[in-house]
Amino acid sequence: MSRTFHIVGNWKMNQTVGEIDTFLKEYGSKGPQDFNCQQWIAPQSMHLTQLLTHPILKVGAQNIHQENSGAFTGENSASSLKDLGAHFTLIGHSERRSLFGENDELLNQKLHNALENNLVVIFCVGETLEERETGSTTGVISQQLSEGLAGLKDGQHQNIIVAYEPVWAIGTGKTASPEQAQEVHQHIRTQSKELGFNQEELIILYGGSVKPSNAADLLGQADIDGALVGGASLKGGSFAELCQIAHRLTT
Ligand code: PGA
Repeated sequence: MSRTFHIVGNWKMNQTVGEIDTFLKEYGSKGPQDFNCQQWIAPQSMHLTQLLTHPILKVGAQNIHQENSGAFTGENSASSLKDLGAHFTLIGHSERRSLFGENDELLNQKLHNALENNLVVIFCVGETLEERETGSTTGVISQQLSEGLAGLKDGQHQNIIVAYEPVWAIGTGKTASPEQAQEVHQHIRTQSKELGFNQEELIILYGGSVKPSNAADLLGQADIDGALVGGASLKGGSFAELCQIAHRLTT
């Protein structure tokens, strides 16, 4: 296999300045410069500058506002993020969808704002347990993709990464089996063609309780190009281990 995996840490509302220093020491001691793997972190926005000058890590935001700038107290601007040197933003994480009421239409506005500011977008989709149990997984994913990624212009598709995160697997310790994940990834890749993507080149990440003990099996699937990792990305040793597993699978 010759692809380069992406391992993306989503730190959510965690980490202090001191904890990030400890993370960087542990991570740095594992020789991450030798891993053939994209190594990205989305910290809380106030910690972006602590990571921005890192020679290996690419940093991004967990969320942006749909408007570019203005009177939106407490929000983060895509253009300010780009100006700061951020590389990417997550959009549509299930916590944004469920806890903050972000619907497909709003997420599509955020997507366009991010792309216009030349940020790479990691666009997250995923079904709830109820949706899986009632057999509507692929329908839900298809709708999230077609509405969330509507209206793309030529040249914008290559700045989008899709992350499949079954809601029932996020932070629960329950992981989709490699076969369950692969089935949905394959569906996403097939649908991406209808949405104007080069389906072979689209990067599709899996997320939901990924950890060093299950990463190799998941990354070993044909259509899984990396992982979006919450809990197991908080410690430098564990994040580095995930990157090393990805590296080993490429060699
Ligand atoms: P988890 O979170 O790895 O802790 O399940 C993944 C995510 O929410 O992106």
